Amino acid sequence: MSRILVLAAILAVCSSQKELNIKNEKCRTCNFLVHTFDEGLKKTARQHFAGGDTAWEEKNLGKYKTSETRLIEVLEGVCKKSSLPNMDKFTGISDIEFKCATQLEQREETIEEFYYNQQHNNMSIWLCVEQLKLCCPHGHYGKTCEKCPGLNEGSDACFGKGSCHGDGSREGSGKCKCEAGYSGNLCRHCDSEYFEESRTEKSVVCKRKTKFDTSRHRVRITLVGVAMVTVSKDL
Ligand SMILES: *[C@@H]1O[C@H](CO)[C@@H](O)[C@H](O)[C@H]1NC(C)=O
Repeated sequence: MSRILVLAAILAVCSSQKELNIKNEKCRTCNFLVHTFDEGLKKTARQHFAGGDTAWEEKNLGKYKTSETRLIEVLEGVCKKSSLPNMDKFTGISDIEFKCATQLEQREETIEEFYYNQQHNNMSIWLCVEQLKLCCPHGHYGKTCEKCPGLNEGSDACFGKGSCHGDGSREGSGKCKCEAGYSGNLCRHCDSEYFEESRTEKSVVCKRKTKFDTSRHRVRITLVGVAMVTVSKDL
């Protein structure tokens, strides 16, 4: 009997963790594609003109900016780990290069459309959110990119005091996980041990209550002092 209970408890913990951990692989892989593509754009700009900032590029890249020659060079480094200075953002995705190459192959036309006509857009949003629909915009979650709690109230996701489960991905429950000190579905209440320092329609600031109640403490010191004086007089 108890063994069954233990097993049930383990299963419950496992399934709740599964609910919490979002892999968000397709979206992250798309962003890997975007980052490697972007590195290629920067690198080719530098190679062909000892170039610098974006404003400079706009002026001086001219025809080269959307030339096929450049696209071929950029594509050489796309989906390669070695194109990025570090992989910190993309840890935990196995075979990321292969998965990225698959996305690239399947949506080559869309990526070319970005290169030739949409470079003025943010590639991550244009490609991964709008075209491929692998990510949701910031503050949105789930299959249909629903709004995180708080957005309908005119505030940030979870009132800016917590994280919305699945934020930015096509996964998740949208539930807020509040920072320490905050509670409620929208993280707009203060936890016990905290007090409300300020509140507007769209935000709340909670501060930890001081454990040490100085006024009461002072009374006690005074009482102890009086007692000691009394005792010493008696002696
Ligand atoms: C594109 O948008 C993403 C998500 O909002 C942001 O993190 C990134 O910095 C933007 N990229 C550029 C080049 O502005």
